[in-house]
Amino acid sequence: MELNHLNPAYGGTLVDLMADDGGRSDLQNASRDWPSLDLGPRAVSDLELLMGGGFSPLTGFMGRADFDAVCSSMRLADGRLWPLPITLGIGDDLAETLTAGQKLALRDPEGVMLAVLTVDEVFEPDRSAEAEALFGTASPDIPRVEDFLRHQSRWAVAGRVEGVRPPVHYDFRELRLTPVELRRKFSRLGWRRVLAYQTHQTMHRAHQTLTQDAAQECGANLLIHPVVGHDTPGDADHYTRVRCYQALLPHFPMDMARLSLLPMICRGAGPREAVLHGIVNRNFGATHFMVEPGTGGSILESGGAPAYDSEEARGLVAEHADELGIEMILRPMMGYLASARTYVPLNRASETEELVTVSGREIRERLAGGRDLPEWFTFPGVERELRRRHPPRSRQGFTVFMSGLSGSGKSTLANALRVKLLEGGGRSVALLDGDIVRKNLSSELGFSKEHRDLNILRIGFVAAEITRAGGVAICAPIAPYRAVRQQVRDVVEPWGGFILVHVSTPLEVCEGRDRKGMYAKARAGLIKEFTGISDPYEEPSRAEVVIDTSAVTPEEGAREILLYLEREGYIGAESEH
Ligand code: PPS
Repeated sequence: MELNHLNPAYGGTLVDLMADDGGRSDLQNASRDWPSLDLGPRAVSDLELLMGGGFSPLTGFMGRADFDAVCSSMRLADGRLWPLPITLGIGDDLAETLTAGQKLALRDPEGVMLAVLTVDEVFEPDRSAEAEALFGTASPDIPRVEDFLRHQSRWAVAGRVEGVRPPVHYDFRELRLTPVELRRKFSRLGWRRVLAYQTHQTMHRAHQTLTQDAAQECGANLLIHPVVGHDTPGDADHYTRVRCYQALLPHFPMDMARLSLLPMICRGAGPREAVLHGIVNRNFGATHFMVEPGTGGSILESGGAPAYDSEEARGLVAEHADELGIEMILRPMMGYLASARTYVPLNRASETEELVTVSGREIRERLAGGRDLPEWFTFPGVERELRRRHPPRSRQGFTVFMSGLSGSGKSTLANALRVKLLEGGGRSVALLDGDIVRKNLSSELGFSKEHRDLNILRIGFVAAEITRAGGVAICAPIAPYRAVRQQVRDVVEPWGGFILVHVSTPLEVCEGRDRKGMYAKARAGLIKEFTGISDPYEEPSRAEVVIDTSAVTPEEGAREILLYLEREGYIGAESEH
């Protein structure tokens, strides 16, 4: 459907790859004989945009000619501007068997068939060139680049896509509009000029002022178009974000703004990603597109600085604005001018001294402590949603992770702590003692580094789930390796507290106790790879609590941990709110 008064899609016509009703059931029936590929969440999100026309004029996953041209010159092989490769990775087994002209059923992670791909070619993408295109560097010294290179498959399959059914989303269905549906909606609302604001962050008063001013200035209505493709660990999950956007909407003048969710992933590709945002938003019917400093995101260099200058995205979009066919709106970020009780653009130098700011860290700390957010910073409805997601520590779950040598007293301490916490009440407490876990979760594992790490990651997974559900997980494995302890911290912390307790009882004391006779056997060489004797123990460098059980009783040790938990607000009287 073309709606003439709206911005036509990039490339002229909005691509619609969905088969008609009859075609769909034919494809479904025929697919029994075809090979299948189960897609991960990122590939599903690319497929959804391809099928619905969000990636117009693309009609399928890219082949070698387009891939190479896009990486080297930011253009498709036919010369049209296109910033980033859209490829479909496959494993070696499938790559060996697929031939041109063959059909491949594309399925979601549950096995539901979403689309059919007619194979054009199977090729080996140059992943270093791709990393250069995305991040401006292919250096594996940068963690995000290394991660990208490690996770890309060697092979990609290219070909035209025919849609059978769009991916199923159970959340916020009424907000997930395709390009056709959104264009229809604009038409029904009588919107001719539409400013798209694409974001992956929670919006507060500053963003509301910024977008409202921009829309009014260009005489457009506002489409808030947040990306909800794939949650980044550590960020507010998209459920919370979307509820925050919903709470913000009533603060715009009547009928000015609408919200629709964009099923796109963040690639962290900076300027080139900003250009892709421009194309995608045009395909969804926008005539104007807001480019903030830093649009498109950026990976961090090894030193921690962003790889792209925050202005680079604007520069690249501006350079190609005519070809993109969407008007770029540049606005500086806003700061709060307390004396005038209003927001002003941050680049108004004369007023800079009076500008009030609040850092993301302070917001998190206030939420954790149950304290109010500044009234000027956000709207009460948004704050309410953030509070539901980030309750004060006294209502969050947490994990106490004890690490130390065999015989250091971890289990005794863990038991004492468990009983004390149960005595205090309020939360359910689970004990993941080394022995219990070895028996129930990790019975097939031995004591090689690889198996120990796997054991600890399993414990971390369970602890994170318990923490997420608001409970307390007390873990007491040896956990001798620093890197994997950090990995556990990283999976738990987005959901609640992580308290590393180093049970630092010296080796001589542990060996002297030798309750299970294992040290004697290890010394005699009967047990191999025994921690402290024939296998290393990497001392924690940043434990929240250190307890030497040769100097304190289990009761005193447990009390020290409780004191820490009280001091940090995890237990004890709730702060007033
Ligand atoms: S690890 O390293 O964290 O995976 O170890 P963990 O799951 O805590 O298991 C440690 C218990 O297993 C017994 N055991 C050994 N420990 C260390 N090294 C070797 N090679 C080994 N073989 C068996 C030992 O009794 C540990 O129990 P605790 O309660 O710590 O004494």
